Amino acid sequence: MSKPIISPSLLSANFLNLEADLDAINRSEADWLHIDVMDGVFVPNISFGFPVLKYVAEKCTKPLDVHLMIVQPEKFIKEVKDLGSMMMNVHYETCTHLHRVVQQIKDAGMKAGVTLNPATPVALLKDIVADLDMVLLMSVNPGFGGQKFIPQTLNKLRECRELVDKTGSKALIQIDGGVNLETGKLLVDAGADVLVAGNAVFKAPDMVEMIHQLKNL
Ligand code: DX5
Ligand code: ZN
Repeated sequence: MSKPIISPSLLSANFLNLEADLDAINRSEADWLHIDVMDGVFVPNISFGFPVLKYVAEKCTKPLDVHLMIVQPEKFIKEVKDLGSMMMNVHYETCTHLHRVVQQIKDAGMKAGVTLNPATPVALLKDIVADLDMVLLMSVNPGFGGQKFIPQTLNKLRECRELVDKTGSKALIQIDGGVNLETGKLLVDAGADVLVAGNAVFKAPDMVEMIHQLKNL
């Protein structure tokens, strides 16, 4: 089994000392940096916006994995692209014309991801999965770090693995929410490709070591 891609979530960083946290990420085995943008409409919280992310992007040496928890995400394709992002990930629940948004993200030169909330079924991706670079299954309700992993995600992950493999899609499967060494192991065994971890990484006594452990579950 290949090692998971590790994408630490900036949401749990120390915002008074982002530079030190980003230095740790840069020298760790983290593969990407996960960036949660919220609007207080789609989710009941607001995180950070593009003026802050501009400086994060300058400092971070890892590819940016941008998770947009906002309505009308297509309005911000240019802003996400201008950060130099590798991935732009939109929620299924926010896109009436998902196919169009996915094409627009790809036309802008980024990889396209689609996220499902915990209650949104995997089967809804059947006709778009072949076009996707990543599927993100939320394992908590989006909006906050530090929540408890929803165990049903494991069944959903197996179903998603089957859909991706059956359709010959190249999409990676990412899991976000409540990921730690214990749930991370279960997820890797069930076929996850990418693990997002906020609190487990940024609240660890040694972030670099925690990322090493997640990488080698
Ligand atoms: C939640 C965000 C997550 C969050 C994960 O809405 O999408 O990326 O930062 O945090 P943890 O790993 O602490 O659950
Ligand atoms: Zn996220």
